[in-house]
Amino acid sequence: MTETGIRPPYAGSRYPRLAQIPAFTECIARDWDTVPVFPDLVAGTAEAAAAHRDRLSAALPGRTVVASAGTAPVRNDDSNYGFRADSSFVWLTGCQSEDAVLVMTPRAGGHDAVLYIPAPFRPGDDGFFSNAAHGELWVGPSAGLPEWADALGIAVQPLSALSARESELRGAFASRAAASLAARVGAEVSDELERTLSNLRMVKDDWEVGQLRDAVDASVAGFAAVAREVPRAIAEGLGERWLQGTFDRHARTFGNGPGYSTIVGSGGHAPILHWVRCDGPIVPHAALLLDMGVEARSLYTADVTRTIPASGTFSTAQREVHDLVERAHRAGLALIRPGVEYLDFHFAAMEVIAQGLHDWGLLPVSVDEALSPQGQHHRRYLACGIGHHLGLDVHDCSQSHYEDYMGADLVPGVVMTVEPGLYFHQHDLTLPPELRGIGVRLEDDVLVTARGSEVLSAALPIDAAGVEAWTLDKLETPNR
Ligand code: GLY
Ligand code: MN
Ligand code: MN
Repeated sequence: MTETGIRPPYAGSRYPRLAQIPAFTECIARDWDTVPVFPDLVAGTAEAAAAHRDRLSAALPGRTVVASAGTAPVRNDDSNYGFRADSSFVWLTGCQSEDAVLVMTPRAGGHDAVLYIPAPFRPGDDGFFSNAAHGELWVGPSAGLPEWADALGIAVQPLSALSARESELRGAFASRAAASLAARVGAEVSDELERTLSNLRMVKDDWEVGQLRDAVDASVAGFAAVAREVPRAIAEGLGERWLQGTFDRHARTFGNGPGYSTIVGSGGHAPILHWVRCDGPIVPHAALLLDMGVEARSLYTADVTRTIPASGTFSTAQREVHDLVERAHRAGLALIRPGVEYLDFHFAAMEVIAQGLHDWGLLPVSVDEALSPQGQHHRRYLACGIGHHLGLDVHDCSQSHYEDYMGADLVPGVVMTVEPGLYFHQHDLTLPPELRGIGVRLEDDVLVTARGSEVLSAALPIDAAGVEAWTLDKLETPNR
């Protein structure tokens, strides 16, 4: 068949849409078999989410709450970024469906929860072909609403049914991810809701700790996969891009994907805190900073950093910097236990850093003056935070107030990172030449236990000799 005949009438306008051609829409609507699809959830997801809803219900009695999974942002034209559901929404529902909305309405003794999910357009539905977001011709056979209700143990309605309830949502507390819905219905994007969710998410239950363990274990394996590619990245000039791609592929294969933008910084790039460009070479005798975390399919993420010698052996200067960071790291780790104030690990690690920099003649003032709130000269070489809560977000619980986070006592179930470092930039004129271009960070993920703490990422060594031995082993056994 030729289409030549349709060209002249449409010149100067868009090509006709197939959805506007009745013969086509009638044809594509029929003769499809039914494909049963069930939500693919990590075991335990529904039970954990139900318990989380109960905790939110108890924290906000009498309040109507609206939370949304959100919508993928536009990348260009009609292409969007890959969708990743809002963390608080996932914490409350276990559902990762784009555009889904949770409504919790108060009743005596708690809340009623309804999850609104965009219903897939099946063969015969108008949207089967014409809706590229939810038409099954485009996105494949998808779980239906009864399957979601079964899997999550929650009442599920089509998203289209929410419009009938919009007047009830006036004045409701809405999460930030539900901002556009809130604007439409007169709900309030509520700092109190965000803060409450942030505080509630701070103590992980056993299932969440299990998810974080899985994410960390997958990340540790990812570090090995990356280190095994270092010789090839050097020999073939593939550079930081290859190692970034290696980790991201590993994360996608064994989890949902990287939990944040992977950092691969070789040599002079290692001191650059957010080196996510990853477009440089792997410098053969330089230190290589790897900050990489697998996000599990439940969306809980690891956040781990090691700095390895690309050659397998640190130079003297690299080793001395690594040793100082290790001492600070150990000082910080020693203060992670119940009853200790969150920030204490930070001050302990900073003391070690300031003293070490002083001993190297790099502080223009005394250690005490540097450590005083009005000093902070040592922070020139460590200008970032050195830890944070970890969970569904890499910087979890960020909406909590000081007294609930920085100034709060640690309790069992908290998971946090400890990540001191030293960042000696290539163009920092305060430094002797041998230190310029060295960046070292050690980052572990730590669970506060009943009596102390457990380093979840302890399978990766933190001492320079251990890091060298670990690295040499990987350099000698490349990936197949
Ligand atoms: N990778 C982000 C962080 O360490 O906080
Ligand atoms: Mn971190
Ligand atoms: Mn990190």
